[in-house]
Amino acid sequence: MEARTLELVFPNDTNTHGTIFGGTLVAWMDKAAAYAAIRCARSAVVTAAIDSIAFEVPIRQGELVELYARVEKVGRTSMRVRVEVSREDPMDGSRELCTVGYFTMVAVDADGRPRPVAQLD
Ligand SMILES: CC(C)(COP(=O)(O)OP(=O)(O)OC[C@H]1O[C@@H](n2cnc3c(N)ncnc32)[C@H](O)[C@@H]1OP(=O)(O)O)[C@@H](O)C(=O)NCCC(=O)NCCS
Repeated sequence: MEARTLELVFPNDTNTHGTIFGGTLVAWMDKAAAYAAIRCARSAVVTAAIDSIAFEVPIRQGELVELYARVEKVGRTSMRVRVEVSREDPMDGSRELCTVGYFTMVAVDADGRPRPVAQLD
């Protein structure tokens, strides 16, 4: 199960160097992971854990950021979601993979308790 999102880096998403805030990027990644997990579980989900994420490539104001999330593994109530982040120059279309993160999302019922998820096909 997958989800793709697209964002544009606005001035209020950046630090004083004109590159994206790490926290903003993690929030975008978390949302993409949640969308893939919601599609997989057909349920509300919460983020249980985020593996360490390294930011090796700066993403600049005015660039497009594409997030591609895919559920790689389903447990009983949890899902492990891989999120790839690519930057794109909107003027020439050049792209670069910037970072990858792994998120553990848990399906929850209306009371916030974990609920079972169907296995991947
Ligand atoms: C995530 C949450 C629902 C788990 O509830 P719990 O009572 O600990 O439930 P369980 O111990 O049965 O764990 C449920 C599943 O989550 C997984 N899990 C829980 N904590 C985890 C962690 N820190 N890392 C990885 N997986 C975790 C368990 O392995 C289990 O997976 P499985 O059912 O596939 O085997 C609960 O801790 C919670 O609500 N946390 C707050 C979530 C939140 O607010 N997130 C956003 C703010 S940062």
